[in-house]
Amino acid sequence: MTASLSTAATEKGRYFGTAVRIDQIEASPRLRQAVLNDCGFLTPEIHMKWNALQPARDHWTPGPADGLVRFAQANELRVRGHALLWHNSTPHWAEDEIVRERNWNTVGRYIEAVAGRYRDHVEEWDVVNEPIDADGSTDGLRDNVFMRSYGSSYIARALEAAHAAAPKARLAINDYSFEYDNSTEQVRRTAFLKLLERLKTAGTPLDAVGLQAHLDLSKGPLKPEILKPFLAEIAGMGLDIAITELDVNEHDRRLSLRERDARVADEVRRYLDIVLDEPKVKGVTTWGLSDEHSWLQPTGAKGAALNRGLPYDAVLEPKPMHRAIHASLLA
Ligand code: XIL
Repeated sequence: MTASLSTAATEKGRYFGTAVRIDQIEASPRLRQAVLNDCGFLTPEIHMKWNALQPARDHWTPGPADGLVRFAQANELRVRGHALLWHNSTPHWAEDEIVRERNWNTVGRYIEAVAGRYRDHVEEWDVVNEPIDADGSTDGLRDNVFMRSYGSSYIARALEAAHAAAPKARLAINDYSFEYDNSTEQVRRTAFLKLLERLKTAGTPLDAVGLQAHLDLSKGPLKPEILKPFLAEIAGMGLDIAITELDVNEHDRRLSLRERDARVADEVRRYLDIVLDEPKVKGVTTWGLSDEHSWLQPTGAKGAALNRGLPYDAVLEPKPMHRAIHASLLA
């Protein structure tokens, strides 16, 4: 029996979870067992994205999201909702409408419907996903369809709308590439902190931030002196922190599996040891449990060509990354 990551997390007052799809759980008894063994929290990997829930204006498809919520409830698992607004999952019909009409109702009605539907089940929502862009012209904010039609106030308005529809849900902004010591990520960290500061000063209902944490072995060593002050600034604003999409992109797949797995595990251990030193970090979610389902897989990859950046390999055997997470959670 593999040691439970959720049990280890809970021992320290935290949670461990993963992103998953209900169809994957239903298709694989081994995945189901790993989810139940390791997780206290689930994030729907795709089911709660706008294009998954409302592919056409008059066509709602909440079946898979409802199914995942039912699975969570039946097994006493908590749910992180992901994500109300994301430039990459906005359906074309909605983008067209937002650009054409510039009417907040397009977004407002959607948030009301979805945050409202899951108000008793989703404990924490990623309300806005990936609003930061280092190349963005306005304050490091991404030039997305929401920004173009509503201006930078779309973030605060989305948070207000989510709060109105689901007053008990904790609301978060989720984003990526804050981990490494390079100029792009430095610009991103600064822009993110500025955004959080503006929102908190304005009294916007924002409870938490999500740090995706897609680690990357090609980006050089993780440095506590970079990460710790960043986390401390977020914590200092009174915000909780969730690690929301942890995985590792290997890039170089020429080494032996043993060496590759050791490198992945070391990176995860190093990252988690730094971030879990911050009490405001309330939990860790990996973006999948098994390499079989990782979004990082090169198309058509099989065998050794598969990226090995999740806790279990493609046949659901736990890897050193699993032990690394377990050890960091208990450290
Ligand atoms: C990814 C899913 O894993 C893919 O299956 C899907 O095709 C695209 O989205 N950052 C996020 C997640 O916030 O929603 C993304 O998930 C991965 C990057």
